Amino acid sequence: MLTTSRSFNKPVNSSRFRQHVNPLASRYQQPRVPSPSVDTSWLTSNLSSPSNPYHLDIGCAKGTFCLSMSPLNPSVNYLGLEIRDPVVEYALDRRNRRKLDNCHFVSCNANVDLERVLEGINAVGGLLKTVTIQFPDPHFKEKHKKRRVVVPELVRLIGESMEKEEGVVYLASDVKEVLDEMREEFNNCDMFEDTVEGDGYLEENVNEVPTERELSVLKDDKPVWRASFRLRR
Ligand SMILES: C[S@@+](CC[C@H](N)C(=O)[O-])C[C@H]1O[C@@H](n2cnc3c(N)ncnc32)[C@H](O)[C@@H]1O
Repeated sequence: MLTTSRSFNKPVNSSRFRQHVNPLASRYQQPRVPSPSVDTSWLTSNLSSPSNPYHLDIGCAKGTFCLSMSPLNPSVNYLGLEIRDPVVEYALDRRNRRKLDNCHFVSCNANVDLERVLEGINAVGGLLKTVTIQFPDPHFKEKHKKRRVVVPELVRLIGESMEKEEGVVYLASDVKEVLDEMREEFNNCDMFEDTVEGDGYLEENVNEVPTERELSVLKDDKPVWRASFRLRR
């Protein structure tokens, strides 16, 4: 598994991270998560109770959201997926320093590895309860929009794996068009229903803590667009 972390004595330097990567580049199209029939140790050796319910944070960056949430909800496993390897290394370093055993970060392209991640959770007896996709890279240019993370396949995989009664997907962005597009993808999937009727948006963050990106957007007094979905009964 590629989610290694450095020794406690050498903090990872976060100032030199690349801002954006192209998830469609061939190096990011290679699977990085093992099939559960081969290996589930990436979960079992990183979480003290791998069969507990899971929260999945897609595009977790430096992991601040999962690192803040996991001490508040010790019976939930927080799993962050992030495409940039050095950023995952940094997040793991932070987790190790805080000695958290219900939080883990996986270096992968969610559009390539989500199925194996979800199969892995299932294989260790865990259940996917909640998902967050917060402030995903907007990829503004028309020709780059196909790089956006929320695509029909990702929505279907989440719907098929999520716990029926309590499952919730929370979406947020500071770019209205990006939120609207994510929302449309979930509305297009007949497994999900929007928790907000009509054209309105969720007024508040439903989570106990904001992400790093949300904090910087709110500090600049800019709006945040939010939506959430549950599984149809
Ligand atoms: C703008 S940041 C937002 C980070 C965090 N969610 C927040 O709100 O502070 C989006 C993150 O998603 C990651 N990302 C983009 N495409 C991804 C993909 N296909 N799979 C996993 N992570 C991805 C980026 O590398 C980046 O760290």
